[in-house]
Amino acid sequence: MKTIFEKSSGADGICVGDYNLGDFLPKDFLREGKIGLPQLSELEVLRHYKELSDRNFCIEKGFYPLGSCTMKYNPKVNELLASLEGFANLHPLQSDDDAQGALELMFRLQEALKHITGMDAVTLQPAAGAHGELTGMMIIKKYFEVKGETNRVKVIVPDSAHGTNPASAKMCGFEIVEVKSNSKGQVDIDALKELLDENVAAIMMTNPNTLGIFEEKVLEISQLMHDNGSLLYYDGANFNAVMGWTNPALMGFDVVHLNLHKTFATPHGGGGPGAGPVCVVEKLKDYLPSPVIVFEDGKYRCDYNIKHSIGKVRSFYGNFGVLVRAYAYILMMGKNLKLASADAVLNANYLKEKLKGAYDLPYDEPCMHEFVLSGERQHHQGVSTLGIAKRLMDSNCHPPTVYFPLIVHEALMIEPTESESKEVLDNFVDIMLKIVEEIKENPEEVLKSPRKTPVKKVDETLAARKPDLTYKG
Ligand SMILES: Cc1ncc(COP(=O)(O)O)c(C=O)c1O
Repeated sequence: MKTIFEKSSGADGICVGDYNLGDFLPKDFLREGKIGLPQLSELEVLRHYKELSDRNFCIEKGFYPLGSCTMKYNPKVNELLASLEGFANLHPLQSDDDAQGALELMFRLQEALKHITGMDAVTLQPAAGAHGELTGMMIIKKYFEVKGETNRVKVIVPDSAHGTNPASAKMCGFEIVEVKSNSKGQVDIDALKELLDENVAAIMMTNPNTLGIFEEKVLEISQLMHDNGSLLYYDGANFNAVMGWTNPALMGFDVVHLNLHKTFATPHGGGGPGAGPVCVVEKLKDYLPSPVIVFEDGKYRCDYNIKHSIGKVRSFYGNFGVLVRAYAYILMMGKNLKLASADAVLNANYLKEKLKGAYDLPYDEPCMHEFVLSGERQHHQGVSTLGIAKRLMDSNCHPPTVYFPLIVHEALMIEPTESESKEVLDNFVDIMLKIVEEIKENPEEVLKSPRKTPVKKVDETLAARKPDLTYKG
């Protein structure tokens, strides 16, 4: 496909008129010569972007079982509400008095997230899950600093953890200590006990964990950590599995981030924008980033007066549009949030049972909202997990997450979400089983995929070593 510059036809695009910017811009900032923008008619521009979007895969096009990413249906009414003029055109520098509607929405969302997580206070600022982790770790660090326990320099992270967990803790200056998983794919309690000492600040856990398995010993773990004077951080990326059934407060966690874009339905396949609010227990309330939204004397306002605040972690109020979508979704779902989690878990268990004979299942446990297969058998037959993923793309199906979590060889992490019907799941099973047969019969043929996608099979080495990503016109 040609770039928009190559398509430039010379037709007049939009004319911005002759403004003499030199009257009010410093001379140094003025461009000399032509700007070099492509010249296309409005229709040509529309066709260009339509063609680009047609080449993209999205939830509206087909099944998207990308593990750990919760690619659920994002109701279109959320888009409508986020685009309401009063929300979309509100200037972030307007006074609190002018922005009462937006502040009320944020306040109500804070209250809803407190209710759903069981926590006592919330910041809506972080712009993604990983940003929430960083914020949470900064809060934990400052908490121990104020307490005078600067010896607490270690953070324990399970070997199944998402890479952002150790990365976030490390960015805050913590030392990372890995705890092994046991044969059931859960944190090994005995191994954990050996790691505990007066230097441990916290453990970061995902529950259900990245294998899609619920950590049955979570209460024992929280008791152990608290007895050690340490805190527990809950990575809420997998919260879609447990909404309304339990919450991080009941499990004994002190700090939680939620990925609003996943659990509470914002389109997020293209890398953003997202929102990763952080919820904390009472004793950490004074460490939240400022401002938080409060309701006092009949008005909503931004409260910047937080005693030990870690400061600001994001400009203005965070990704407000995502907050609107999440609030709309929560209102629309109400108590059915619980049903969404139940269906997500049911769908995952259905797929797991259908596929577990044909592919290896390293942890044969009842799963939560996702499960992890291994393509090791197929790898020995000549097609790795990457090859399976690429073959799936020829069936209008987004591949599962591959090669994660790292503790599973040739991992295929499958998360169907609650949005899909039995017919869609059955069709996926048929495709996955057919690939197994194709690999047995003719692995060479399977390795030719993808052939039906806009970009066909690429030379992986060349793509990694010499990526051609810029237009050099
Ligand atoms: C378990 C887990 N933790 C954290 C993250 C980071 O979230 P985000 O992509 O919103 O930064 C992810 C993202 O996939 C995840 O799966």
